[in-house]
Amino acid sequence: MAEGALFSVSSGIIRKAGDVAVQEIALIWGVKDEIKKLKETVSTISAVLLDAEAKKHNNEVKLWLQRLKDAMFDADDLLDEISTEALRREVMTRDKKAKEVRIFFSKSNQLAYGLRMGHKVKAMRERFDAIAADRKFHLDERSEERQVRYKARQQTHSVVRAEDVIGREEDKKAIIGSLLDPNVKENVSVLPIVGVGGLGKTTVSQLVFNDEEIKNHFELKLWVCVSDDFDVKIIVEKILECIKNEKPKDLEMNTLVNDLEKEINGKRYMLVLDDVWNEDREKWSELKKILMGGAKGSRILVTTRSEIVAKISQSIQPHVLKGLEEQYAWSLFKKMAFEEGEEEMNASFLEIGKEILKMCVGVPLAIRTIGGLLYFKKSEIEWRSFKTNELSKIRQNESDILPTLKLSYNYLASHLKQ
Ligand SMILES: Nc1ncnc2c1ncn2[C@@H]1O[C@H](COP(=O)(O)OP(=O)(O)OP(=O)(O)O)[C@@H](O)[C@H]1O
Ligand SMILES: [Mg+2]
Repeated sequence: MAEGALFSVSSGIIRKAGDVAVQEIALIWGVKDEIKKLKETVSTISAVLLDAEAKKHNNEVKLWLQRLKDAMFDADDLLDEISTEALRREVMTRDKKAKEVRIFFSKSNQLAYGLRMGHKVKAMRERFDAIAADRKFHLDERSEERQVRYKARQQTHSVVRAEDVIGREEDKKAIIGSLLDPNVKENVSVLPIVGVGGLGKTTVSQLVFNDEEIKNHFELKLWVCVSDDFDVKIIVEKILECIKNEKPKDLEMNTLVNDLEKEINGKRYMLVLDDVWNEDREKWSELKKILMGGAKGSRILVTTRSEIVAKISQSIQPHVLKGLEEQYAWSLFKKMAFEEGEEEMNASFLEIGKEILKMCVGVPLAIRTIGGLLYFKKSEIEWRSFKTNELSKIRQNESDILPTLKLSYNYLASHLKQ
């Protein structure tokens, strides 16, 4: 697994577990304490993660890390499920008179669901406790790693489950082709992937990052999530952390730059700078200067929503990501909105589903969210009313949607208005 990636997953878990909406729903289900304990255990384990990754040549540590990795993924999924539930609840309770809301939140329904989720959370907490207790070797805590930075944008990591990604084979092929193309002038060239929020830029970059051919081609592969803060010093620190598996000590910029150059100069590297917002050309040049010492064939992959960012950073023609093709959008929608096989039962359901899907303009985040909401609506009338009423409500009330989804709706709203 990529260096530091597990730490990002654990940070994600801690952040999600601390989310207000998650805590609110956990309170209703009576699992607030369990979530709190889960969060504490994951924090404790996170403190020794970097040391464990550094010692993974020890077989025992390696096995322990593997167990931990599996548990982390499952916990991350579980918290996503809870966040989605919280969101669904929020959207549905906006219209308090709606019958389905009353049914959905009727005591017995909630109780059954809450109980099931409660069991899942408890089992997950116990699994982490067991992993934490089952450490027969010594690992050092690196206390600075305990802190979890709360950021407006979620930190990304390089890990993805390829089987969850639908319809991006062509994009993946084109991006890889461009990354491996030997006919470029500069030693280190920059390929931007550009597209609106929620379109799957990070996801497709993860697919590329984990591809075997890419793994074999580059000597060094690095993933850095840039997000809000395009601070050259911080980015240099993050790249160094990625290479060395530990946060650089509080060093002067000059020392950091020298250190980084020592690590990358002469090596064919691939660096992903995920989620770049900086449109300031000066700052970009400053960073580029530091990164230019890589061997011929080195590549920097930049993901961004901004065409300006793509323009100022590019040295290779940007890859412009489009919405999912109809058939793939439909597959994803089906997966989210129907029980398996259920969609074949009613042709008119399909028709209205396809109309709703059009409104998602192929954006996977929108398809996932809206498909997920429709999953709980079991009649054609409900689907129709969702299309005419609730989709427009989402637009008006976008401020109370979970932040990441809000970003997707901002975009969605402008398309729906056209
Ligand atoms: N091809 C796909 N198949 C299934 N799910 C996808 C696909 N692409 C993206 N997703 C899901 O959609 C969501 C948004 O994807 P992602 O974060 O990659 O978008 P992004 O373009 O990087 O967005 P942002 O601009 O906010 O960074 C994620 O939950 C991701 O798992
Ligand atoms: Mg992204």
